[in-house]
Amino acid sequence: MMYVVGNLKMNMLSREEALQYIAVLKREIKDRRYTAVKSILCPPFLYLSDFVHLPASVESGAQNVFWEKSGAYTGEISPTMLKNAGVTSVIIGHSERRGIHGETNEVVKKKTLAALKHLLVPIVCIGETAEERRTEETARVLEQQVRSIFADLSRMQAEKVIIAYEPRWAIGTDTLPTSGEILQVRVLLRKILTEQYDAQLAERIIILYGGSVKSSFLPAVTWEAGMDGVLVGRESLFPYEIVKMMNILEEHATVESKD
Ligand code: 13P
Repeated sequence: MMYVVGNLKMNMLSREEALQYIAVLKREIKDRRYTAVKSILCPPFLYLSDFVHLPASVESGAQNVFWEKSGAYTGEISPTMLKNAGVTSVIIGHSERRGIHGETNEVVKKKTLAALKHLLVPIVCIGETAEERRTEETARVLEQQVRSIFADLSRMQAEKVIIAYEPRWAIGTDTLPTSGEILQVRVLLRKILTEQYDAQLAERIIILYGGSVKSSFLPAVTWEAGMDGVLVGRESLFPYEIVKMMNILEEHATVESKD
């Protein structure tokens, strides 16, 4: 299965805009069925109750979650609330949460565990900063992030995690790593996960690429680099771009299966 995850971030300023987005998405998908692609769209919390009514093959996800079930945690949303609202997935540890809201590897780990316990799929973001890349610390940083996420996860929990590799310098910049660089990261992640579990399980864990993704870059960032799909920011604000990406991945998968 290939994934097109849309991170709508803090966009869509009214419910009308959100409903308009959903209407265009439905019109673009029509009654098309996807067998090899799944999309997960992650709007602001306010619109999640509208985003649970999407066409087949499109699910809704949140952009963040807290680790407690309920209580005196002003401003937070719990995994139970998301689950009860029909949400299936949640983005955790996005670069903007790590950078602007100071989320540490420890916080990301707690949120991942909480999501799994409440049967939400955690889409956990990892990635190096421009400075870490410049000083050739990418592999060390990614290893630390990944080891922390999986430190306390059972095999059953581990295989439900989706990892999103988003180099922090590639977000919102239109500068991307080469497919060779993304492939190197994929190899590194598989190696770490093989060490912690085994090769079969490491192979089953879904790894996405995110950071300035456009439909024209799909071949390079997905099948050339061996990724299982994409985490899309700006381009996900256009429903037809999401559908276009789903169609490209679906067609590629269908051609491959005929070969
Ligand atoms: P852009 O696609 O706008 O670079 O954002 C990527 C991102 O942060 C997705 O989570």
